[in-house]
Amino acid sequence: MKIIKVKSYEEMSALAAKLIVEQIKEKPNSVLGLATGSTPIGTYERLVGLDFSRVKTFNLDEYCGLKRGHSQSYYYFMMENLFSHINIKKNNINFPTEKNPEKYDDKITRAGGIDLQLLGVGSNGHIGFNEPDDVFHNLTRIVKLADSTVKDNARFFDNIKDVPKTAISMGIGTIMATRKIVLVADKNKAHIIKELEKPVVSPQLPCSILHYHPDCTIICVM
Ligand code: F6R
Repeated sequence: MKIIKVKSYEEMSALAAKLIVEQIKEKPNSVLGLATGSTPIGTYERLVGLDFSRVKTFNLDEYCGLKRGHSQSYYYFMMENLFSHINIKKNNINFPTEKNPEKYDDKITRAGGIDLQLLGVGSNGHIGFNEPDDVFHNLTRIVKLADSTVKDNARFFDNIKDVPKTAISMGIGTIMATRKIVLVADKNKAHIIKELEKPVVSPQLPCSILHYHPDCTIICVM
């Protein structure tokens, strides 16, 4: 695991975007795994203009119970922040669904596996919506959000009561099977990066599994 410390959100975003640009230039039909949340917005801004005509994407997660047109659904977020600004084909955009979530892993496998996975990290160390637990969960499934995640994400909703309590998330196994990982973390996640610097792997800090990934770059503002 390579940890690159940078001074600003802009520097973090530019470096993450550079790695994605390199990936797509090297393999124009790349399969990308994508994240939502505040952190990757600057990365996505820097990808506008890149040729996505042969790229396939698989998002990490989606809230249960929100329609695609809901302003807080992750589908809507991706449309607003990336997909409506690039030349990706609609059929090449994939999200996990409440119906048959386990089929998502088969779909990823049929697409040839994920070449590059962009990740954010939760303030409790979650990746995707794999929350701290006693065990690591392997595959895409419906998950209950941790109370701290509901609280963190309440900033996007009018009322904390409106935040969905469940989501569909790629599993830890799905994430670990990707060929390359780029994790972005702004300075509000410095406490998690400090934990990650310790050589300890625990399901109570889900991102710590990344110590075992063969090609993982963490870009953090510190
Ligand atoms: C979102 C996701 C989450 C976020 C994490 C950080 O698709 O997978 O793990 O990356 O909650 O969110 P922000 O960037 O809003 O702090």
